[in-house]
Amino acid sequence: MAQAPREQWGSRTGFVLAAVGSAVGLGNMWRFSYLASEHGGGAFLLLYIAMTALVGLPVMLAELTLGRGSGRSPIFALQHFGGRAWSLLGWLFVATGFLIFSYYSVIAGWTLRYAVETIFLGFSGDPGGRFEALATGGPAVAWHLGFVVLCAFVVMGGVRGGIERASVVLMPVLFALVVGIAIYAATLDGAAAGYARYLTFEIREILSLEVLREAAGQAFFSLSLGMGVMITYASYLSPRENLPQQSLVIAGADFGVAFLAGLVVFPLIFALGLSDKVGESTVGALFITLPETFATMGAAGRVVGSLFFVALAVAALTSAISMLEVVVASAIDGLGVSRRTAAIVAGAGIALLGIPSALSLGVLGLLDQVAGNLLLILGGLLVTVFVGWVMDDPVAEVERGAGGIRWFGLWRTLLRTVVPLVLAVVLVSSCGATLGAIQELAGG
Ligand code: TRP
Repeated sequence: MAQAPREQWGSRTGFVLAAVGSAVGLGNMWRFSYLASEHGGGAFLLLYIAMTALVGLPVMLAELTLGRGSGRSPIFALQHFGGRAWSLLGWLFVATGFLIFSYYSVIAGWTLRYAVETIFLGFSGDPGGRFEALATGGPAVAWHLGFVVLCAFVVMGGVRGGIERASVVLMPVLFALVVGIAIYAATLDGAAAGYARYLTFEIREILSLEVLREAAGQAFFSLSLGMGVMITYASYLSPRENLPQQSLVIAGADFGVAFLAGLVVFPLIFALGLSDKVGESTVGALFITLPETFATMGAAGRVVGSLFFVALAVAALTSAISMLEVVVASAIDGLGVSRRTAAIVAGAGIALLGIPSALSLGVLGLLDQVAGNLLLILGGLLVTVFVGWVMDDPVAEVERGAGGIRWFGLWRTLLRTVVPLVLAVVLVSSCGATLGAIQELAGG
């Protein structure tokens, strides 16, 4: 069968924005600032930056190297450099993408619905009850399906005509929204108290293994590592690109949005004195506490609230697209099917698989624990070991296009030592959390 030439990004900016779009997701909008507020504020920020540098960046560079070096999607990239046995790791990535997308899309469906409803109807007077009513059941299934269709539609448009085009439009909108809302939030009465809760520098907090683990896990998750997204996206890059430089830009933008989102969320919550609710789940803060705040702010609350949920939906969309692309690219490379067929079949499969999560928060939570935590970290650990210890001369591949940057010896050393060590620690604790989640589901 004659192979069509592989698709390519239209521009470097297009690639970077698509990768940032993948990285900036629901995790940036709340989970990061929540962790910072719980674990030492500014001190956590420093620890997070250190973990991004020591763990996140090396793994990202490893994935980018595999993708650009092979010009293939994950299964074939790993086969190309490591033979049959390592191609199994690519299968793990595809399976993880499938699973994560299935429930991520349920949450994304909520954000989409909140965005649309707020624009047209405003906020409900009883956000808790409202959320309970729409989080599961028929409407949740419907919005989940709608979201999958939207993603499939973008991915069907191709790398340049779909993913890149959507990212180039949506990411600047997202940045502008987050900056704009942060400025508005700074004018609120609760702003100072909110910043204090978010950023007060407590060095003592970060001196524990648990906090280190949280910081590393978040840095890793936030950069969308461990399931082949960066491999897939880099496979559409030209060999001249400077991978180290681009990983820095991607990680910097991802951190910037997470940091800014904290400057949005905390003043809002403190403006209403809802700070006792900060400790609640991610879902609770985003879908109950914040709407409660917006609902009391009259017209301004409705406008800002709508924009906030639009931003959330955009963040979710560009992340979900990247998950779907991993699956679709693998089907195109492996089965020789058209992009259109791959997107429709993968989308349909994911849509079905997500229905249980749209019917039960317990199932959703369990999948998040298993796929979003355990499998991602496992995938990341294995890819680290592969590039660190097994692959023949990854440094030569990364050096292509890297200009004057010359610290690749250090990169490989990190991949051989610090990174697997940290990821193994995170993995072990994640196993514990997964067992807990299973027991909870069985018990409840
Ligand atoms: N980075 C995303 C966020 O911050 C979440 C995420 C983790 C992700 N792994 C991914 C997104 C893989 C897309 C693909 O919310």
